[in-house]
Formats: sequence, C-alpha cells, structure tokens
Amino acid sequence: MYQYKTDGGESFQMALHKRIILVNEEMNRILSTEMPYLMPMQGLNGYSDPVTHILWSGGKRIRPILCMFACDAVGGDEKKVLPTAAGLEFLHAFTLIHDDIMDDADMRRGGPTVHAVWGVPMAITAGDTLYSLAFRAFSKNSEVEGTDDARVKYVMELATEKCLNLAKGQAMDILFENKPDVEIEDYLRMVKLKTAALLELALQAGGVLGGGSKNEIDALEELGGLMGTAFQIQDDIIDVEGVDTGKPLGTDLKKGKKTIVLLHALKHVDSTSRDRIINFIENSSEDDLMEVIDIIKSTDSVSYAKQLVKETLEEAEEVLSNLEDRQGTHNLKAMIGYLMRRNK
Ligand code: IPE
Ligand code: IPE
Ligand code: MG
Ligand code: MG
Ligand code: MG
Repeated sequence: MYQYKTDGGESFQMALHKRIILVNEEMNRILSTEMPYLMPMQGLNGYSDPVTHILWSGGKRIRPILCMFACDAVGGDEKKVLPTAAGLEFLHAFTLIHDDIMDDADMRRGGPTVHAVWGVPMAITAGDTLYSLAFRAFSKNSEVEGTDDARVKYVMELATEKCLNLAKGQAMDILFENKPDVEIEDYLRMVKLKTAALLELALQAGGVLGGGSKNEIDALEELGGLMGTAFQIQDDIIDVEGVDTGKPLGTDLKKGKKTIVLLHALKHVDSTSRDRIINFIENSSEDDLMEVIDIIKSTDSVSYAKQLVKETLEEAEEVLSNLEDRQGTHNLKAMIGYLMRRNK
C-alpha cells in the first residue's frame, strides 16, 4: 500500500526542497526572458542588484509551495502552475521591500534590506518591478500546455483583489502605530488583510489552475485565511522571543507596532508597567528593550499568542476535510504542522 508522507519530518523537508528547486528554476527562467524590461539595476557595496538581492537571500518560498500543494490537492498537475508559483514569490518579494521601507527596517534574513543598501527611491522602484513581474508571470501560465485561459484570467482577478486587501491591511498596520486602543478583533481583521491575503491567493490559485471545484477553492481560501493569521501571530511572537531569526529582536516593539503580544500585554499589566511600555515605545532606547520584553513576558501574553496560533491551526486542519484524500492534501496538513513549529 502507498504510504502518504505526512510526518512533517525528513520526507516533508524533501517535499519542500524539491519544490523550492522547481520554483527557483522557474523564477530564473522568467527573469532571464524579462531582462530587457527590468529597471537598470546596479550592484552596490558588494551586494548584487535590488531584485536579485531580495529574491535570492534565503526566502522560505512558502507561497509558491502552497500553490503547488493546493493544485495537487484538487487533482491537478503541480508542474503546470510553476509560472504562477514564481509570480507569487515575486509578489511576496515586492511586499517585503515596501514593508521594510514602511517599517523602517534595516535588516531582513540576516542581511541589509533593499532600501538600506540602495536607498528608498530605488527600493520603491525595485518593488514596482517585482509587482509588475508577478502579473507578467501569472499571465505566462497561459503558455503552459493544457491551461485554460479563463482560469488564468480568474487567477489574475483574484490576485488584484488580494493585492487590494494587502494594501488595506498594510495601511491599517501603519494607522494602528498611533492608535492607543486597538482591539484584538481589529488586529485580526488587519492581519487577515496584510498577511493572509497572499496565502489565500496562493492556495486559491493552485486550486483554480488545478481544476478544483468551487467548494474546494473556497475551502482553500478559508485555509489561507487561517494559516495566514497563525503565520502573522507567530511572526509577532518571534519579535519578542526570536533567536537568530535574521530580524533584530524587538523591531515591532520599538516601532509601536500593535502586535498581538503587545495588545494582550497592555490589557493585562498594572499601570506602572503599562506606562513603562508606552514610554519605551515613545522614546525607544536599546538599553531598555530587554526590560520591556521581560515585562511583556511576565504577563501570559506570549502563551496567549501561542495558544491562539495552535487553535487557529487546528481550525485550519478541520478545513482540510473539504479536500479529497490526496498527497497534496497531506502535504498541506504537514505544512500546518511546520507553521506550528516555525521560529524564522
Ligand atoms: C515574512 O514572510 C513576512 C510576513 C508575512 C510575516 P516569510 O516569513 O514568508 O518571508 P521569507 O520570504 O520566508 O523570508
Ligand atoms: C508582514 O508584516 C506583512 C507584509 C509583508 C505584507 P511584518 O511587517 O510583520 O513582516 P516582517 O516582520 O517585516 O517580515
Ligand atoms: Mg515589517
Ligand atoms: Mg509591516
Ligand atoms: Mg513582523
């Protein structure tokens, strides 16, 4: 009897690895054919050029992989969604470059961010280039034999809708920096828009191009919403707990980002500690960071957030029952387990 590889262990790592290679090859293929249209890019300070820098500095390729798993889960051939999978990574890279400008972040994946090397104007343009390349890649999926043009068009409509959601979520994230009384429900609406949008798109796109039914595609969208929410909560936890993540500890705290950990802590500390935290956000000094992190950890805010990740991912697992028993579905289940344990 055929054994599904669901353990989330070595065989799952291999499943990820194989797809990363395919996606990387496809990204390179598209980049080389689009060369004449790319902005004149220059290496600087020993770094390559902005687009190369963001694409090849160690991203996990979660969105392209989800797209491939989803295609397989509805019975499609995942090699036939590679241009779309590559487009999802271009889109993600665009959001990271612009997000780092918005968040004033100098470090990502253990190295300098694009604007830290090339400056903000060039970083904005590199982001625009990747955004355009993403839509070019989505439309290129029509060139794959056997692809239905109507399904490619539908993916592009979904991509537009999810990009609008992402922009709305990012705007809320920025507005919340100066809003003292953000409720957990507002936070959850914000993360579904800013982070889950691309996971929803990745899963839906795989389902659409794989020939999935409406019921399957809707389930994949719901799955993306839950996985994306858990993904962002985990990202917020990493800001106060992370070790060797490639992003400096406390970046969100210093910026006054309304992470779930901070929101929960502000509601549960005494007034002295609350003043201490607010004072830190207003006049952040590196010396006080560990003290403020300790105050936050002394509430049960990190365990609260971890519990929320766990519950959200359990809900995500239940959604999988809408999909048939295929290897792709098992891989999606293993991905949920991987997200539960992620620390980068
Ligand atoms: C980082 O996403 C941005 C968030 C949505 C929190 P990833 O953690 O998927 O980024 P890379 O591409 O793997 O570095
Ligand atoms: C991620 O938010 C959302 C997007 C990139 C759209 P964060 O601002 O928390 O992501 P990181 O921590 O910089 O990767
Ligand atoms: Mg950021
Ligand atoms: Mg941000
Ligand atoms: Mg973050």
